[in-house]
Amino acid sequence: MDSIFSFEDIMELPSRYRANLINMVSGIKPANLIGTTSKNGQTNLAVFNSVVHIGANPPYLGFILRPTTVERHTYENLKETGVYTINQITTAIHKKAHQTSAKYDREVSEFDAVGLTEHYQQGFHAPFVAESPIKIGLSFQEEQLIKCNDTRLIIGKMEHLILPEAAILEDGDIALDQLDIAAVAGLYNYYKLEHLGNYGYSKP
Ligand SMILES: Cc1cc2nc3c(=O)[nH]c(=O)nc-3n(C[C@H](O)[C@H](O)[C@H](O)COP(=O)(O)O)c2cc1C
Repeated sequence: MDSIFSFEDIMELPSRYRANLINMVSGIKPANLIGTTSKNGQTNLAVFNSVVHIGANPPYLGFILRPTTVERHTYENLKETGVYTINQITTAIHKKAHQTSAKYDREVSEFDAVGLTEHYQQGFHAPFVAESPIKIGLSFQEEQLIKCNDTRLIIGKMEHLILPEAAILEDGDIALDQLDIAAVAGLYNYYKLEHLGNYGYSKP
């Protein structure tokens, strides 16, 4: 038997239940940590499940930021400094990564609070996560306010891409499963990856 929800039914659900259900229905998402530094030099780290490919030429990534009705340290920092990092979460660090979503004070670095290590690259101002095998340094490019719900699409240009040479396969594939990469569904559930196949460029 199926459960069937109308729009009205969804809107009447308890808010956390609704948030999790609706976050889950679009499926498995990438699990990433975004690292920033404030203009005063305070580092910050937070988990995001909405990182999305915007384009490869030039290389742009986006992510969705919740409404700025409360303090959003990642957003404030990346707007202040113009740079941030996106770091893929592995199964080895997924519990620490999840803990970064707690509302720590502005003065607290989630790197210290959860026990992850800052890594810096070539004078780039934002902190990478040393424990993450795929680290991306970005410069803020543009933001789009999504009017229907006051969220923002934040777009950054890749300035640095750091990953193990051995994990880069022919044609630019990355062996994500061999890098212990984790995935996330909803706001609380993490998964391991299993590679099913590479089927090449489809033709009619
Ligand atoms: C699994 C997971 C995914 C999340 N994804 C997002 C997201 O895509 N966008 C967002 O704005 N917040 C997201 N959050 C919430 C942030 O992690 C949370 O608001 C965090 O406190 C933000 O920290 P900051 O204020 O230091 O930037 C997510 C939380 C969890 C647990």
